[in-house]
Amino acid sequence: MPPVEALVDARRSIEARYRARTPESRALHERALQSLPGGESRTATWFAPYPTYIASGLGSTLTDVDGNRLVDFTYNSTSVIHGHAHPDIVAAVQRRVAEGTAWNAPNAGQVELAELLCARVPSLDQVRFSASGTEANMHAIKAARAFTDRDLIIKMDLAYHGTYEGVEIHQGADGWGGPGSPVSRGVPSNAVDNVLIAPFDDAEIVEWLLETHPGQVAAIVVNPAQTQGGLRAPSPGYLKALRDAADAHGTLLVFDEVITLRLARGGGQELFGVLPDLTAMGKIIGGGLPVGGFGGRADVMDIFADRQPPVLPHAGTFNGNPATMAAGLAAMQLLDAPAFELLAERGEALGRGLVDASHRAGVALDVTQIESVIGVDVPLAGASAGEIIDLIVLELLNRGFKAASMMTVSTATTNDEIQALAEALVEVLRQLRPAIAESAPAAAPTT
Ligand SMILES: Cc1ncc(COP(=O)(O)O)c(C=O)c1O
Repeated sequence: MPPVEALVDARRSIEARYRARTPESRALHERALQSLPGGESRTATWFAPYPTYIASGLGSTLTDVDGNRLVDFTYNSTSVIHGHAHPDIVAAVQRRVAEGTAWNAPNAGQVELAELLCARVPSLDQVRFSASGTEANMHAIKAARAFTDRDLIIKMDLAYHGTYEGVEIHQGADGWGGPGSPVSRGVPSNAVDNVLIAPFDDAEIVEWLLETHPGQVAAIVVNPAQTQGGLRAPSPGYLKALRDAADAHGTLLVFDEVITLRLARGGGQELFGVLPDLTAMGKIIGGGLPVGGFGGRADVMDIFADRQPPVLPHAGTFNGNPATMAAGLAAMQLLDAPAFELLAERGEALGRGLVDASHRAGVALDVTQIESVIGVDVPLAGASAGEIIDLIVLELLNRGFKAASMMTVSTATTNDEIQALAEALVEVLRQLRPAIAESAPAAAPTT
């Protein structure tokens, strides 16, 4: 469907201001297009007309290559929980890298971070580290398959567990229980055979899938709160029903806590009061450096200790590397009870600020806040919702804020910054209101 004329006009003027503010980013992007397909290595950070190149980050503020300062409400997709270049984390990494960055042997930092995570996250008896959240999910699922000697998994529709073909599958045309459909080119057509799809927050369909595939499902894989396709908290009883269904069928329950680990000291499993068998982690546990981690029940994780064939190798040149372990340990040690209180308080203030801005501007934004994670959507805008969000985000960039449809706060975020973002959002929404009203009248009602 072609975009509504009013949105095209709004984009034209917003982009013109963006281009005027960011000539160095544009030059770098044009140069990048020669050596990097699409100009980058990370699909999710691209946006039209071209992404902002960031030169540095300090605390809550990023500075782009044109010298524009941006108050950050994204924090590298929720991973930089203490703000950019926190002095304790910088010092820990500097100390560590001065002594070498990686070698073919374990290091003590790995033991310390593993002990810290096992002490905090209620279901973790043991963990292993990898280089990304994608790998963490991949290995957790593989461990579940090896432990149960079963092939199938159940995953939730729209749920993101990384860019790995075993999970890049959504609901197919035949509905629940039918074959899923790949969300990416390059996923082998038979990958869907191993994945059953259920909607998030509907335990009955999971129970039905388990009953109709007796003895075949290795794992139920779920984000305790769904973070893709709109932020959603689980309804009371949902995760417990998954726990019971898994137990009844000899299936393992796997939580992807790559984002939700930041919701509480013990992650989403502590906040929502249900313990999985295995947990995949990432983002905050690396203190801003590349990381993944997965762990859980000792009897399941023990598979990795088995040296008799057939083994389950878990290799990775940078798994548990010293620099990441040092950064992760420093970040997690800073994440004490007062830090969680602060994050929850700021998260609440941000959620309230965005709701208030939407009321003041008369645009129906849907704001969901779970502790320090905030999702924003324009549900009444139908097919225009994506473009409206993109325009809001681009115009906020023009005004010095880095926002997204999923936002977060760090321990460096101040109430003044939240207030400033909310004020800017009122102006942006008022500016866009005529275009929104034309493209989606229900999202900008006149009364
Ligand atoms: C819920 C969830 N799982 C897995 C991943 C993948 O993590 P990574 O990007 O470190 O591979 C992400 C990344 O955003 C995520 O949000």
